Amino acid sequence: MGRRKFIRQAIAAGVASALVLALAACAGGSGSDSAKTGGNAKIVMGFAQVGAESGWRTANTKSIQEAAKKAGIELKFSDAQQKQENQIKAIRSYIQQKVSVIGFSPVVETGWDTVLKEAKDAGIPVILTDRAVDSKDKSLYVTFLGSDFVAEGQKAGEWTVKEFGDKPTNVVELQGTTGAAPAIDRKAGFEKVVAAKPNIKIIASQTGDFTRAGGKQVMEAFLKSNPKIDLVYAHNDDMGLGAIEAIEAAGKVPGKDIKIVTVDAVKDGLTALAAGKINFVVECNPLLGTQLMDIAKKVLDGKTVPKRIVTTETTFTQEQAKAALPTRQY
Ligand code: AHR
Repeated sequence: MGRRKFIRQAIAAGVASALVLALAACAGGSGSDSAKTGGNAKIVMGFAQVGAESGWRTANTKSIQEAAKKAGIELKFSDAQQKQENQIKAIRSYIQQKVSVIGFSPVVETGWDTVLKEAKDAGIPVILTDRAVDSKDKSLYVTFLGSDFVAEGQKAGEWTVKEFGDKPTNVVELQGTTGAAPAIDRKAGFEKVVAAKPNIKIIASQTGDFTRAGGKQVMEAFLKSNPKIDLVYAHNDDMGLGAIEAIEAAGKVPGKDIKIVTVDAVKDGLTALAAGKINFVVECNPLLGTQLMDIAKKVLDGKTVPKRIVTTETTFTQEQAKAALPTRQY
């Protein structure tokens, strides 16, 4: 072979192998070097939290922060103060920072496709925890870890039907944040069960935004405009605790004159149940941190995870609350 021909062939081979290497890097699908665990690389998780609206949320945040530390995962954490635009900004900033994985609890169900597509295009996997998104494109997230909120609403409904039987019963409902998955699903689950009992009527239903102050304020209004209230169905403990304050301020006895059923089972809720101020609590488990970190590691190692992972939960009567309280973690 002539010298010139040899040089030409060598250059062509060099260009080809550079191209192969470049293509292989793209096919890795990762937004950054840190995204590849490749055994030893550090995992960086950006977590876009809803806010700090309730005792449940505080316990959830603590669980995620502690689990990240234990798993050796670097956590970039943001609190959206219950605002969708803040969560979108946080996710965009995680994409810019080229985190390995994004954990995300969406404040409301809709309006996420654009930003989740941006994460997908950057090769950053998204794990939904606690709350789901309502999107046709299921490829925008790898999995959803959290409770079955419809089942929680059904459990509250089943207790109501058992407790009130055929008695005429007026229910007021304190809904969670408008548009949030737990508010939509807990409402639907409860309604589905009580619809079979025409004696049970939901006479008023309004959002208290999952906060104690919101629950109190809405309950005050309900008490003013409804002379006969038999039951408060609160989508979380905090709003139920706010309702207790409003009922007591109106000179009535919570748990007796007006019964209360709530969802969450945080310590404050179970304490009120043990004291007879709440009558029944449906559990929603906030301790999702360890599972979230395990899922993140699996996903980044290229392992397949189920598209939906449902949290195991129970319910509490007064006696069960008394027994559980001494060892309750949150
Ligand atoms: O998404 C879970 C819900 O959000 C909890 O029930 C409530 O307390 C929180 O704010």
